[in-house]
Amino acid sequence: MMLLGTQSVNAAGHLQVGGCDALELAAEFGTPLYVLDEAHLRATAQAYRRALAAHCRHSRVYYASKALTTTAVIAMMVEEGLAFDVASAGELQTALAAGADPADLLLHGNYKSSAEMRLALTSGVGRICVDSLSELAAWDALAGELGVRAGIYLRVNPNVQGDTHASISTGQIDSKFGLSIQSGAAEAAVAQALRARHLDLVGLHCHIGSQILEAQPFADAAAELADFAADLRTQHGLTLRELDLGGGLGIRYLPSHQPPSIAEFVGQVVETLRARLAEHDYPIPTLCLEPGRSLVGEAGLTLYTIGPVKPIPGVRTYVSVDGGLSDNPRPAMYQSPYHVFLADRPTAEADGIYTVAGKHCETDTLFPDVPLAAPAEGGILAVQSTGAYNYAMASNYNRLPRPAMVTVRDGQAEVIVARESVEDTLRSDRLPARLARRR
Ligand SMILES: Cc1ncc(COP(=O)(O)O)c(C=O)c1O
Repeated sequence: MMLLGTQSVNAAGHLQVGGCDALELAAEFGTPLYVLDEAHLRATAQAYRRALAAHCRHSRVYYASKALTTTAVIAMMVEEGLAFDVASAGELQTALAAGADPADLLLHGNYKSSAEMRLALTSGVGRICVDSLSELAAWDALAGELGVRAGIYLRVNPNVQGDTHASISTGQIDSKFGLSIQSGAAEAAVAQALRARHLDLVGLHCHIGSQILEAQPFADAAAELADFAADLRTQHGLTLRELDLGGGLGIRYLPSHQPPSIAEFVGQVVETLRARLAEHDYPIPTLCLEPGRSLVGEAGLTLYTIGPVKPIPGVRTYVSVDGGLSDNPRPAMYQSPYHVFLADRPTAEADGIYTVAGKHCETDTLFPDVPLAAPAEGGILAVQSTGAYNYAMASNYNRLPRPAMVTVRDGQAEVIVARESVEDTLRSDRLPARLARRR
């Protein structure tokens, strides 16, 4: 069994997290329930800041808020001194509502609407990551109209691929994101940015993908960026002040997943970058990282109530739970594996292999072929490492209200996202006048 963060097995033999008994959490707050281990979250944020500070004088950690955007989570990260990657007006406004300094926000995206662009400049967002040539022109025009100078990064594509699912691989040349170094598009964008009257080209950005379990591809991308930066200095006299190497470090979904520690990962990437910059006699810029999954993923777990257990002799035994792809779409999207066990007896020996299915009107296989210890109706199933891209990607499929989220710390649990009600899911519905009149 894999225990993470502050998790332990308590005297009652139950899973405990943040000093709270998982069964008591399920009874008090209902299920499905997202549980966030606050001490683990904060320790991870500190580990990133410490690791970067150990290797470079000037650094910044942008939390990629897409992984888990709630006001409370952002407010905790603000306390930990992080900056924020936001990729929509919603993420931007959540960060501001949580008390983030607009100067600490970095706006991302391959499609930024004009409303999002205007909001970014009028609210004083510190950095904008530009993803295309047409976007570059649009920012220059808007900044001119508003009488501001916008600090920008260019998202470049280093043509480096990590070993991960194709849907979350973004560093290869065939990607909707970024401007290719190889094709010359990135250099053309730099030339255009330097001609722009209202833009300040501060740095470059790359993000090669997500859930990558080794540091080497990130180090390779860093070296590509260093070489490109040196070329730009030769060709355009530009010295970059900031370099942002994106996010993407993988986490432990299964005990067999062994990503490098944050300190090892940062050490290998930054030292590769420093060495390559030194070869070019290039000054070390402010170094930025943008972790999402590796900041919040392992700090989250989900509790479900087990429903019918249905053996199909000679085939498999299905264990139904009270959630599914609406609270965790990752198994359906990426066939992502998870580590699951019974919260009331985490150490019990498995008596067989089961397939956990969600309650949606789809196959909705959540966790195929997992060992479990005699799961029975009414039991509580714990799913590890659901902090990233679960709540953030949740939907109302089958009109299921989205689950609540509680933060646990020192034996105290507090709701940070209220459980939705069916009324909430009805709120945006409207009847055409013709139908409304008939009622
Ligand atoms: C631009 C950018 N930065 C950072 C991240 C965070 O990646 P991860 O959660 O894998 O750390 C993403 C994820 O999609 C991204 O698109």
